Amino acid sequence: MTQTSQKTTFGGETVADLMPQSPDLRGERLAALHKLFPDLFDGEGRIVEKELRALADPAYVPVGERYEFPWTGKTRSKREAFTPSRAALLYDPKRSVNPDKAGGNVIIEGENLEALKLLTAAYRERVKLIYIDPPYNTGKDFVYSDDYTEGREPYWEESGTTEDGVLIDTNTESNGRYHSDWLRMMHSRLLAARYLLRDDGFIVVSIDDAELANLMRLMDEVFDETNRVATLVWDKSRKNDAKFFSVGHEYMLIYARDKIFLKESNIILRADKEGVDEVKEVFDRLKNEHKNDFVKVRHRLIAHYATWDEDDDRQALSRFSKVDEKGPYRDDGNINWPGGGGPDYEILHPTTGKPCKLPISGWRYPTAERFWEMYRKGRIVFGPDDTTVPSVRTNLFDSKTQAIPSVLFSYAQIATQEFQKLFDSKKPFDNPKHFDDLRKLVDYLTDDGDVILDFFAGSGSTAHGVMLSNGKREFILVQFPERITDKTRTGVRALSMGYKKISDITIDRCRRVVDKLTIESGGLLPVDLGFKVYTLEKSNFPRVDFAPDPDKTEAENVEALRAYIREKENTFLRTWDRENILDEVLLKNGFMFDRSIAPAPEFTENQVEIVKDAYRTALVCLDESIAPETVDAFKGDKERIFSCLEAGLDTTKKWNLKHHLGDRLRPI
Ligand SMILES: C[S@@+](CC[C@H](N)C(=O)[O-])C[C@H]1O[C@@H](n2cnc3c(N)ncnc32)[C@H](O)[C@@H]1O
Repeated sequence: MTQTSQKTTFGGETVADLMPQSPDLRGERLAALHKLFPDLFDGEGRIVEKELRALADPAYVPVGERYEFPWTGKTRSKREAFTPSRAALLYDPKRSVNPDKAGGNVIIEGENLEALKLLTAAYRERVKLIYIDPPYNTGKDFVYSDDYTEGREPYWEESGTTEDGVLIDTNTESNGRYHSDWLRMMHSRLLAARYLLRDDGFIVVSIDDAELANLMRLMDEVFDETNRVATLVWDKSRKNDAKFFSVGHEYMLIYARDKIFLKESNIILRADKEGVDEVKEVFDRLKNEHKNDFVKVRHRLIAHYATWDEDDDRQALSRFSKVDEKGPYRDDGNINWPGGGGPDYEILHPTTGKPCKLPISGWRYPTAERFWEMYRKGRIVFGPDDTTVPSVRTNLFDSKTQAIPSVLFSYAQIATQEFQKLFDSKKPFDNPKHFDDLRKLVDYLTDDGDVILDFFAGSGSTAHGVMLSNGKREFILVQFPERITDKTRTGVRALSMGYKKISDITIDRCRRVVDKLTIESGGLLPVDLGFKVYTLEKSNFPRVDFAPDPDKTEAENVEALRAYIREKENTFLRTWDRENILDEVLLKNGFMFDRSIAPAPEFTENQVEIVKDAYRTALVCLDESIAPETVDAFKGDKERIFSCLEAGLDTTKKWNLKHHLGDRLRPI
């Protein structure tokens, strides 16, 4: 796609490339801006001035028309996406499972926009895959409107002080802003989520026909249409009572964070062809048993294929029904030039010596030399005489991997049955995604050690898929404490099973998966399994309630805030929960959930801890007062980062520490 009218492109050649001139710095700056903030550009790659103005001035409300995808509340959803969060994540040890083995596996019970913002400090550009299955806006789904800061039903009261969770509205079609409300909800979350993706990351969003068109335009805007990777069709059921067409599928939109980066890094995606290893094992055994009698081997192999169900993924392999010393093969491959108008050189049949019949659209190979080269490699098979067009031979064992096709078959009924098995044959949640589909997606798009995020977690199918996938990957789930009501049969069932909120189901499902995998492995799990639960709460720090006075200068407000902190946080320091404060401080200072914390023994006068994650290390002290010896220990320090309470420093200590550490001093 051309990016601007100046013909700056991201991947292809530009006029500037071909002209003898100095580098096009203007184009480069625009391209960099576009890459950083695609939402500031329109669908034709032009910068949108009003978006820039809205960025600079949060009170600005734009007017006017242009090529764009407008909906009511769009400016507001963008503002909501980038307004900082003053919430915190509170660790809930009681609902966590094997926390010492959890690594970075986390379930966050809370509203996802706030949670995404809180994750930004630590997980910015750290997440490899975001998978979400948002409410589809079918008129029955719950859509949480972002009013908890505005107080229709105060979120904190509802979720923090009640056991039952938050009751939220349905977005009915009679609501005049039916689509706009949904778009607004999605827009802010996608904008916030984009910051979490790594350069080589992907986002996958499940959706059905109701919002497919809107979602695609929204994703094009937030992630840029050049980063669109695929739209998968997920064929999941048949509806025999359909009046017009039996629509039994939904979609998965897949976008890369930066497709050019993937291209430049030569990243290609491949999955193991399911069943090839199994067929190889069977083939080797039969070959041995029948002492290379390939007629018998073939007979037995076909019998093996027949044991697979019709909708088994391995069925595709049964087309490899011929057998020789190279293993199973098929020799009915198309030798036509794709499209038409292919080369029409003469190929003489090896037995009759006469020219073979031409394929309808010409030979698949550009020259006769190439044709014979493929023949010598055993990749081309001639018919009995020249009246038959030769065909292409493919050996099953030549390639064990493949790109995942864009149409996938996975029946919702089977997903539900598998889900129920976990819950003693009961179903506390409607329409869970099949965890094995998610396992395949995770295996395909991520590697060992990667972080996978699902911020519309529902029953936790994504975590299930991650736990089943190979290697040590980490999951972060976010699920709203949505109150379960008795208005549906599933709701009644879930309540009877003791669940009060959807997030109770998420957590319990993951607990059941951990237990099941541990039992199945006989205690020999290749990786540790567990997860920590955090709940979204109001910040521990009273200062978040401070409201700056608009009539005062910035300096006056800073002074007033300092006084407020001194007064309020002095009392708070005596009553606080140290662990909670540490959690809040560490996440906001960019430490991931799998951080380690250990005492730093060289500090004798204060309790100083050394905190580490995969990307950073810092010293943290939450003592009410920092001793002079602790300040002196940083004399001449060239690399360490030190965080301590603002209230623990007087002016002199703060000045000295600033002198020793510069911006590596991070007061809290
Ligand atoms: C379609 S379901 C996801 C189902 C899930 N993929 C599964 O397999 O179980 C969407 C979930 O998003 C949750 N949700 C909706 N709005 C939310 C919000 N603002 N924050 C967090 N979760 C939200 C709903 O409670 C619901 O459980």
